[in-house]
Amino acid sequence: MCGIVGYIGNAPEEHLLHGLEVLEYRGYDSAGIAVIHHGKMSIYKEIGRVANLKGKVIETEEFGAGIAHTRWATHGKVSLQNAHPQLSQNKDIAVVHNGIIENYNLLKEQLLKNGVKFDGDTDSEVIAKLFKDNLSIQTLKEVIDRLEGSYATLVVSKNENRIYFARNKLPLYLTKTSQSIILASDPMCFINQSKDYYDIGDGEYGYADLNSIKIYKNDQCVRKKKNKISFNIKTLANKEFNHYMLKEIYQSKDALINILENYKKKKIIKILNHIASIDTDKIYLIGCGTAYHAGLIGKTYLKKYLKKEVECVLASEFIYQNNIITNKTLCIFISQSGETADTILALKHSQKFGAKTVCITNVTYSSLATLADFTLPIYAGVERAVASTKAYFAQCIILYILARKMAGRRYLANIKKFLHEIDFSDDSLIQKLATMIYSKREIFFIGKSVDFITCEEASLKLKEISYINSQAFACGELKHGTLALIDNKKLIIVIATQSQLLNKVLSSASEIKSRGGQLVLFTPLSLTPQIKKIFKVIIPIKQAEEDFMPLQTILPLQKLAYFTAVKKGNDPDMPRNLAKSVTVE
Ligand code: G6P
Repeated sequence: MCGIVGYIGNAPEEHLLHGLEVLEYRGYDSAGIAVIHHGKMSIYKEIGRVANLKGKVIETEEFGAGIAHTRWATHGKVSLQNAHPQLSQNKDIAVVHNGIIENYNLLKEQLLKNGVKFDGDTDSEVIAKLFKDNLSIQTLKEVIDRLEGSYATLVVSKNENRIYFARNKLPLYLTKTSQSIILASDPMCFINQSKDYYDIGDGEYGYADLNSIKIYKNDQCVRKKKNKISFNIKTLANKEFNHYMLKEIYQSKDALINILENYKKKKIIKILNHIASIDTDKIYLIGCGTAYHAGLIGKTYLKKYLKKEVECVLASEFIYQNNIITNKTLCIFISQSGETADTILALKHSQKFGAKTVCITNVTYSSLATLADFTLPIYAGVERAVASTKAYFAQCIILYILARKMAGRRYLANIKKFLHEIDFSDDSLIQKLATMIYSKREIFFIGKSVDFITCEEASLKLKEISYINSQAFACGELKHGTLALIDNKKLIIVIATQSQLLNKVLSSASEIKSRGGQLVLFTPLSLTPQIKKIFKVIIPIKQAEEDFMPLQTILPLQKLAYFTAVKKGNDPDMPRNLAKSVTVE
């Protein structure tokens, strides 16, 4: 993970800090900057958010060059020593790095034997210490030739206003304006600065200054085409809401409107037709975290409409499972960011066996989108909060569209109808429930069939931002172990949206009630007074067509996670230990 940015031009501190703010979704354990003015290098580092660093940096209007980093710790605890930039032995060269150097232990041992001293415990420091006293394209090449693993790295020396860079497996982009050079992990950093950019490829390295940009691969100069900046940063401002997460839950509706608008366009219909024409005997849905849960929902659509073999697999497990992949396999990769390392690895693996690949993503310039045979955009707009909400909603809708399209059925009218049925539930009811649960150490969710998938997603949301241990169970599984955990301190959230399964769900609820557990119900179904008595709280959900009920139901549950986190005093947008874009395996 981690975000890196480099800048050459006037007021480098301001630009680097701005870049770090844009990249903070990639990690926020610590942040740091190295800036060079007139042959002198200044280093600033702080633990925690970029805002902490901002207060410490002395900003200048002067011309200079610099590199910056926002960290998600992989090797070495969160400390100033482990914050980047990392310095060479003579402190003249500074390095920022995103990725993992897998052979760092070996390299470190060799360096230690040669008398090199280390300041911290990161793998990244090895890169800095491999530079002796001079930085040039040759020494950069010599260093990267010794690295195994993944990296996007920027290197500066106090002796020149030039940034050296190298990339292997992790994103790195570069742009030049009339007065500046910018390098970053995400071209979002270039918005309002430039109209186009270069995508640095795997194995490429080089340098950039105001006079020239040189990019090499295997010692050969590479000529690259520019990409246009066709995305915007509109949704980055957050005025009306206290947190991005709440805003983004409400933006699920905007995503639906965007999907309706774009999924009738020729360009998208052409892609859908291509996918529908693929001769396939097996479909895999692959993703991580929330995107995996969207895959589980997608699986229910594909099985219902296509009646084909469909499996949904965690991306981090996919390549280790001896999955049967042939040229008749269709692999659908789901990823908000399109940069999740495990998902990218799974895609490359499936392509080796000749599978056709589709990527469902929010970021159409991402690595996943570039690698996949077909890309289906989700049009959710920038998602900032670490816990994915609107992207989940939009991913499920795209999977619905894909399943219907592959089965030769229409989809737009049903989605349009759902647009008018979307209901975000009453905030005050959910806030009351949040007050009931925020001091609990443990919460369980139970449901049956598709409601069990909603339980899994609701449980993930709750634990990731409230830090309450929560677990989801299929109703029928309770008696096979989980009931042993029930006592009168336990609170269980029941999700029941399918009338045909209500009696079975109620049986499970009664078994819990008999053992003292407190029950909360989320349901669109009307209940008799006798049934209502089983539950301490009932949150009504507005009925929608069966296929869309998982989406209607997740909205109040996302809000429950949000209000619980806020009640606990947590930052729901940036939960501890996590990052939005998970670019390491
Ligand atoms: C992180 C985020 C989750 C997200 C998952 C997969 O863990 O916190 O919200 O679901 O990554 O990310 P992707 O970008 O591949 O959807």
